[in-house]
Amino acid sequence: MSVKTQEEIQILREGGRKLAVVLDALKRELSDGVSAEDLDRLAEKLIREAGGEPSFKGYQGAKDKYPYSATVCFSINDEVVHGLPDGKKIKDGDIIGLDIGMKYKNLFTDMAQTIGIGKIDESGERLIRVTKETLDFAISKVRPGIKTGDLGEAIQNFVESRGFGVVRNLVGHGVGYQVHEEPQIPNWGKSGTGLELVEGMVIAIEPMVTEGDYNLKLAKDGWTWKTKDGKRAAHFEHTLVITKTGAEVLTMC
Ligand code: MF3
Ligand code: CO
Repeated sequence: MSVKTQEEIQILREGGRKLAVVLDALKRELSDGVSAEDLDRLAEKLIREAGGEPSFKGYQGAKDKYPYSATVCFSINDEVVHGLPDGKKIKDGDIIGLDIGMKYKNLFTDMAQTIGIGKIDESGERLIRVTKETLDFAISKVRPGIKTGDLGEAIQNFVESRGFGVVRNLVGHGVGYQVHEEPQIPNWGKSGTGLELVEGMVIAIEPMVTEGDYNLKLAKDGWTWKTKDGKRAAHFEHTLVITKTGAEVLTMC
């Protein structure tokens, strides 16, 4: 279950702040020609120096899947999420989703951002901006008593009214003692449905927004989700705790 004690929340707060510092450091390294595998090694080193462990590495998704093998998910352009860094190089004009998770004093936090490299076209800029605004908007709606479907419908309306698609087959989630816990936090749906959010729950909200259609396909590597139509996608994620009156973002420095 995702309701946490004050002691647990304090650890998540420390871990979340450290994780945000790591992501900031990685963002500073992003530029044309940089290898994603080098970036992944740096991410692991920084996480370990901060007293944590990478939480995605070794993560077993479905039973028939091989475990995730990297510290960061590195998703370029039409890759939506869970891209492996293997063999990738950053190029000017790319939009890159960096998703990173850390286990710190036994508790997990999770966050993601999408970053444009060098000069990005206007549509790519807008895709990134709207996705970030979607996450901020979703966080502003969080408080005890609302249901996951209330949040889903609000997010879906926000994205679709701006002319973008919102991914349906992947969701946000509770987080804390595992990478993924209950409840699921869909970015679409019907208000009045789903689970009620309560004070002390820790969740990760992670809208995945597409330039074109929201349908995805899984790449041959068994991990990387791509858009079916080959158009680009962006992804932002924060881990947060539900407070008496709203939400406190934990993955922030
Ligand atoms: N933020 C991603 C998610 O919640 C990270 C999971 S990567 C995995 O799905 F490798 F651990 F699956
Ligand atoms: Co997540």
